[in-house]
Order: sequence, then structure tokens, then C-alpha cells
Amino acid sequence: MTVKLQLDGKSTKHLSTVTDAIVRAKKILFLSGAGISCSAGIPDFRSMNGLYNTPTSDRIKGKDLFDVSLFNNAATTAAFYQFMALLRTSTCDARPTPTHRFLRTLKDRGSLLRAYTQNIDGLEARVGLNLATLPLAKSDTVQLHGDIHKLKCFLCSETFEYNPSFQTMLSTGEAPDCPSCADKCAMRIAAGRRPVAIGTLRPDIVLYGEQHPAGDSIAEACAMDLKKRPDCLIIAGTTLKVPGFKKLVKDFAKSVHERNGLVIFVNLTELTSTEFSSTIDFHVHCGSDEFVDHLKSARPTFFTKQTTLDSALRSKKVVNPIPKIAAKKQPMTLKTERQSQESPTKKRCPARRTLSEQTLQSNIKLEEIEIKKPGFESTVQEISPDENKENLNPLKRCLSAVVADANGRRTRSWTPELC
Ligand code: OAD
Repeated sequence: MTVKLQLDGKSTKHLSTVTDAIVRAKKILFLSGAGISCSAGIPDFRSMNGLYNTPTSDRIKGKDLFDVSLFNNAATTAAFYQFMALLRTSTCDARPTPTHRFLRTLKDRGSLLRAYTQNIDGLEARVGLNLATLPLAKSDTVQLHGDIHKLKCFLCSETFEYNPSFQTMLSTGEAPDCPSCADKCAMRIAAGRRPVAIGTLRPDIVLYGEQHPAGDSIAEACAMDLKKRPDCLIIAGTTLKVPGFKKLVKDFAKSVHERNGLVIFVNLTELTSTEFSSTIDFHVHCGSDEFVDHLKSARPTFFTKQTTLDSALRSKKVVNPIPKIAAKKQPMTLKTERQSQESPTKKRCPARRTLSEQTLQSNIKLEEIEIKKPGFESTVQEISPDENKENLNPLKRCLSAVVADANGRRTRSWTPELC
């Protein structure tokens, strides 16, 4: 039976059970949904202000933009491309949340077995997690519903990163030609052979009604994780409505329970069914960022352990200010002027011992900027400062703009009235 917890001080005992389980766990599985990116400004799907409930034209509903049947119709196809181009721009502007950073903490501590996300925003990569490239089994994060930052050819299935020209075309509702198919066709023509068809590119996300192209690989990653006997399962920010995801939760929960581990659900709202009452041990009823804040205040050392710093030094471009080789080359008996002034006790290793959390944070920020550079071109649509003042949900603006175009209006109108 699921125990419901609040962060209001009334559930202290159970909350420490939850905290202890996370702190002690060595193989944590983290399964997430749209809720963990809401504080980054990316709306979820089914909440009152979510994408499915966004007021749109009568012709295209938010939900229809995620169903494969949209490709049956030229207007909905164009609207889908425009919507995805805008959604991508919006995710490029978003910043990872404390929950994403918590994932990084788990990774640095070596206690993240793997993250599985239904999200397509790729914010995990921006905190340094390794997003899926095949084989998925080797990645930190498996994106169950695809990646909004990639495009895929309808015909040859080759995937591509965005470039400014792809972004521009999609934002006007048109699909770019596949460069790979185009090259192949051009080579044939040059060789005097007949031309072959050239496919078009579409966002590489998984829509309702289509198979996941990496389904086998995902199954392989799951099987591998089950074999490793996970000892804690955290599920955050999801309504648990998608059948494949539900199965994943149940399979992982079974394995965690076999090791006497805990299954912890962190979500703002209640689940609408009792289907998971024997699967989920604790439902912490709060935002995922608040939960991370709670963990931070309850177990501060969990977030500042030396392992975190060591791992950051190993994997990131943290410049070690101490020239180790030069130091070794000094004859034992000779000391530089500076060394002579210092205490004779040898134990100074400023690079490792004094790397402050602040330094670490600034290094992570640098990394985000580096990652962001190549694929994150500026948007074609500009939002006026006045609109920003209105503090409108950016994706509501996106969807409304898409609908406006689907109705035949070719100009971008970002007025709040449209929402
Ligand atoms: P939903 O919109 O169904 O659920 C998001 C859940 O997160 C809701 O229960 C919210 O109450 C909760 N939530 C919102 N903000 C939160 C926060 N800050 N912290 C914690 N919880 C919060 O989104 P998903 O369950 O992710 O699929 O939806 C699953 C799939 O349905 C999506 O991946 C998408 C959609 O159709 C495809 O596009 C294929």
C-alpha cells in the first residue's frame, strides 16, 4: 500500500526512511516524465495548463500533434513541423532544473544505474549525462520517446542533427530533403543511372501509434539493468499513463522489492487509479525540485561528497593549477623560493582539496554552454519584450502560433490574445 507523504513536517519519520533509502542505494533507477521539466518552462501534457489542454483551433488539438495519424494530412503535417521547431527552440532556451542536477549528483556518486525518461527535451545531456546513442545499454539516460534535437529521414531512417537551414524550413511547415538520400541520388545521376527517391526529414520523436525504432535496444538496456539488481526506484513527474512506461515501472519495482529496496514516487498530483498501490511504497506529494531541496537540507553531504568533486575533475575540463610533472622533476633536496617559504609539511594539493562547490558549479555552467553551442541556433521567431512581460507559457505561444499558420496565416503573430 502506498504511503503518502508531504514536506510539511508531518511525515518526518517516513521522509527519513525515503531519504535513507536514496542515500544508501548503490543502483538507483530514475524514471521520469514531463513534470521534472516544468520548472524549466516546458509544460507537461495532461495538467490543466499542459499541452493537451492548450486552447488551439478546432482543427488541431494538442494531443493530435503527438499521434502518427497527423501525417495523413498536409495541414496537420505542416502544423507538426512548425510546432516541433518551436518546441525545440523553447527547449534550447530552457535550463536544466535542480532535479536534472540531482541526476548528475547520482551519476557522480556512482549510484545512478540509469535514467529512463519519457521527455524529449534532452535536458539530461545539459547536466553532463550521456544520452542514448546506440547501443543504448551504454548510456546514462534512455529517451523512451525520442529526441527533439534530432531529425530522421522517412525513407532511409538516417538521423541528423539540426542545422539552421533545417530549423528554418521546419518552422515554415516544410520538411527538408534528406542529405544522405540526396547525395545518393546525385551520385547515381552523375554515373548516368536513373535517379532514386529522396526522403524528407522529420523530428526524431516517437508518436502514438508508431513503434520505437530503438525498441530492441531499450529492451536490452532494461534487461541489463534488471540483471544488475537495482536497489531503489525513483519515479518523478509523470501521470503513469503510457502503457510501455507502466510496464517498465512494474518490472523495475519488482526487482527493487526483491532486494528490499524502495519504490519512491515524487509527483505534484495524485495518481488517478489505484493500479500502482502495491508497486509504489511512498508517494512524496510535491514538486520534484522541492524534493531535491528537501534531500539537500536533510543530507547535505550527499551533495558535496569528495567523489562528486573527484569525478568532476576526471570527466570535465577542470584545469588543475598545479603542474604535477614540474613538481616531480624538482630534486628532493632543492626547493624553490616559494616552497621554502611554505610549511615543510607536504600535504598541499590545492587542486583537489580546495575545489569549492562554487567552482564546480561554474565548471558545469561552462560545460552547458559548450554543449549548447553547436546545435542551438537562434530562433526564427522573436518574442517581443512586451510579450515576455506577460509571462506567458512559451509553449502555449508556440502552439497558438502553429495553429494560426495551419489556418493559412503565414505571418507570425505572438500576441497574447492568440493564447
Ligand atoms: P503528464 O503531463 O501526463 O504528467 C506530468 C505529471 O507531472 C503530472 O502528474 C503533474 O502533476 C506532474 N508535475 C507537474 N509539475 C511537476 C513538478 N514540478 N514536479 C513533480 N511533478 C510535477 O506527462 P507524462 O506522464 O510525462 O508521450 O506523459 C507521458 C507521455 O504522454 C509523454 O511522454 C508524451 C505524452 O503523450 C508522447 O509524446 C509519445
